[in-house]
Amino acid sequence: MDEKKLIAEAKKIRNRSYSPYSNFKVGAALLGNSGKVYYGTNVENSSLSLGVCAERVALLKAVCSGEKEFTKIAIVASGENLITPCGLCRQALFEFSPGMKIICSNLKGKVRKFTLKGLLPHPFKDAKKKGRR
Ligand code: THU
Repeated sequence: MDEKKLIAEAKKIRNRSYSPYSNFKVGAALLGNSGKVYYGTNVENSSLSLGVCAERVALLKAVCSGEKEFTKIAIVASGENLITPCGLCRQALFEFSPGMKIICSNLKGKVRKFTLKGLLPHPFKDAKKKGRR
């Protein structure tokens, strides 16, 4: 799927955002190596810290569906300034596909592309692999 279509998909799913506390809707479309797309929106809660970002919703849905490698994610939100994934989402995505691309867009079609490695140059790496118990 090309980037324009992935952005369009993220824009569409954004309408399902549950964000009555921030009033800020975010949509994400995550492209798996299989070619399948996984969708996410931010889902908030009256207990504010329980809110989950659109990117992680898409990622967790994908992993539960059996997909663990991804080529790119499109993220769409309103406003002039493009949003980029928060630190938690960067680390969560890095776990599965450090080489993926991040495509950020607003509703007017302004687009900026990043690499995940560029956005998260020093990720936390699995301590267990180094022999920690
Ligand atoms: N949010 C996302 O879903 N993705 C981002 O990349 C940044 C922020 C959500 C979290 C919260 O529901 C709302 O946007 C306002 O921060």
